[in-house]
Amino acid sequence: ASAAQGSATAKEGWSSRTAFILAAVGAAVGLGNIWRFPTLAGESGGGAFVLVYIAFVFLLGLPLVLAEITTGKIGQTDAVGSMREVARRSGASTAWSATATVGTVAAFLILSFYSVVAGWVLYYAGVHAIELVNAIGRGDPLGGAFGGPGGESVDEIQSRMGNLFGNWQLLLAMHVGFMGVTWFVVSRGVHSGIEKAATILMPIFFVLLVGITIYGAFTGNFSEATAFLFTADFSKLTPEVINAALGQALFSLSLGVAGLITYGSYIKSKGGLGGTSLTIAFADTGVALIAGLMIFPIVFAAGLDPAGGPTLVFQALPVAFQSMPGGALIGFLFFCLIFVAALTSSVSLLEVPTAWGKGEMKWSRAFSATMFALGAGSLGVLSLLGYNELSGVSPLGFWSIFEGLDILDTIDGFTGKIMLPLGVMLLAIFIGWKADQKMLQAETGLSDGMFKLWRFLVAWLCPIAVGLVLLFGLFPGLI
Ligand code: PHE
Repeated sequence: ASAAQGSATAKEGWSSRTAFILAAVGAAVGLGNIWRFPTLAGESGGGAFVLVYIAFVFLLGLPLVLAEITTGKIGQTDAVGSMREVARRSGASTAWSATATVGTVAAFLILSFYSVVAGWVLYYAGVHAIELVNAIGRGDPLGGAFGGPGGESVDEIQSRMGNLFGNWQLLLAMHVGFMGVTWFVVSRGVHSGIEKAATILMPIFFVLLVGITIYGAFTGNFSEATAFLFTADFSKLTPEVINAALGQALFSLSLGVAGLITYGSYIKSKGGLGGTSLTIAFADTGVALIAGLMIFPIVFAAGLDPAGGPTLVFQALPVAFQSMPGGALIGFLFFCLIFVAALTSSVSLLEVPTAWGKGEMKWSRAFSATMFALGAGSLGVLSLLGYNELSGVSPLGFWSIFEGLDILDTIDGFTGKIMLPLGVMLLAIFIGWKADQKMLQAETGLSDGMFKLWRFLVAWLCPIAVGLVLLFGLFPGLI
């Protein structure tokens, strides 16, 4: 007992509620908000997608955020151990902790390709840093990137992405660099690593986000952007769009990967979690919408296609940065902003298996973080080789919904379309039906009325809605 107590007092934790909120918002706000959300909104026709997405965030995402954080706060250990503890204290089968195992594996898989995409961001931040230096060298520090108007041709600017993808050594260097920074933060622990990174980086992130958005509002085509994002054309609402909106809501809130269970386990203070969960959901959705208002005015002003897909941020925007006043500077700041957002998210992804290694395998933090960074890093190499040496390889190509997808998109699709929905559905069933409701109400700190509403959403709406979307996502032929 004394040994257990000894480790309990040495247990890692957040130094304040603000620190927890910043870390959780940092985990939620990432490539999902700034790269994936505008891409999906662009491809899915804008407003109608945005509306369904927001509905999913507040009806399904928010209750699940509270469910995950509460599970962690009760368990006070890694996600699998925390679910086991909630099950034990509720007299339910501890086999339910397998749900968190699904999430932990998903976090590992997502980390593997997340770091590859973040590597592209790192490369583009570097390219734009050089452009900024060049612009200053021309005596035109507030000029455009790529030689300004009349400099490089559009083809030359856009071919950078293809050149990067064709060069696996360069992709690898960026991927290793990004994973290395992630590993460094996680190895330093909850307090001096994760919390410190979030409290330094998140304020920088918000300043950049608001700054670039205001800039875009004045120099870009703001009215066309707002019309695009907020005018709903419901004829565009197909089952695929609804499926994509749910997947995006889960991914963006970092749900289903046991990340918020893990972060919740570092909460030491008493006190309710309802307001905290609401803050996280609002901040994440707010950032996605502001990111849309940051990117689309620039896209429309430059006459670019909003449905440009995954290359929107990497191919389209640099073209805009050439002709915009101050483009060299804004381009550099823009990719720094995405880098910061990606880093605080990848840190949370690596923390999930790292905490698992500590809690379940009794490894040291340093060893656990190193093993999983190396493992996810190696798997990520397959994703990046998919663009060159292994192009044409479609690992789940025999399965119609993954047909023709390259390695990275296959792992992204498999985690997003199957593992995350499955993870949250099982969690919702467990929390809604198996966990001790008195204990939950005490830990969430919700009033009777709010608790009833939350329980209804978790026990009924989440399993049914997520189950349906999962079913139609897996068997599109059903409709
Ligand atoms: N929510 C992050 C984003 O939007 C991605 C993420 C998913 C991070 C799951 C952690 C866990 O980019």
